[in-house]
Amino acid sequence: MRIGLCLCAFLLAATAIPARASDTSSLFEKKCAGCHGDDGRGHTRMGRKFHAPDFDRAGYQQKTTNDEMRSAIANGITVDGQRRMPGWKGKLSPAEIEDLVRYVRAFPNAKK
Ligand code: HEC
Repeated sequence: MRIGLCLCAFLLAATAIPARASDTSSLFEKKCAGCHGDDGRGHTRMGRKFHAPDFDRAGYQQKTTNDEMRSAIANGITVDGQRRMPGWKGKLSPAEIEDLVRYVRAFPNAKK
């Protein structure tokens, strides 16, 4: 009985962290991938149309600060009067926005 309980607690603890990461990836898939693509490279019809950057490129990651990313996600991006990306202030919590910044930073080639 006691062993069963321990195992259960262990499994719960083990799944707690990945669950949060996968929440963020499903958030990204739902709200962001339409333009940025599941792989973050922006190779989608919308991504091409609005000039989405390639998140999976070291050069992009180096020239962009976390603050710029936060601000883009919260306020959106408008260039020459054209709305390129909508903002999520008030729709996503600051914690969700923070998680998304980390998610964008974590594409496989981003740090090379
Ligand atoms: C309608 C298309 C669209 C959607 C949806 C979208 N983006 Fe973007 N995003 C863009 C475009 C286009 C740019 C580049 C705009 C520019 O710099 O000219 C961009 C830029 C960014 C940047 C870079 C900002 C910078 O300063 O370089 C981040 C980070 C970002 N998006 C994250 C997200 C996240 C996270 C989501 C989902 C919550 C999202 N985007 C949803 C189109 C979109």
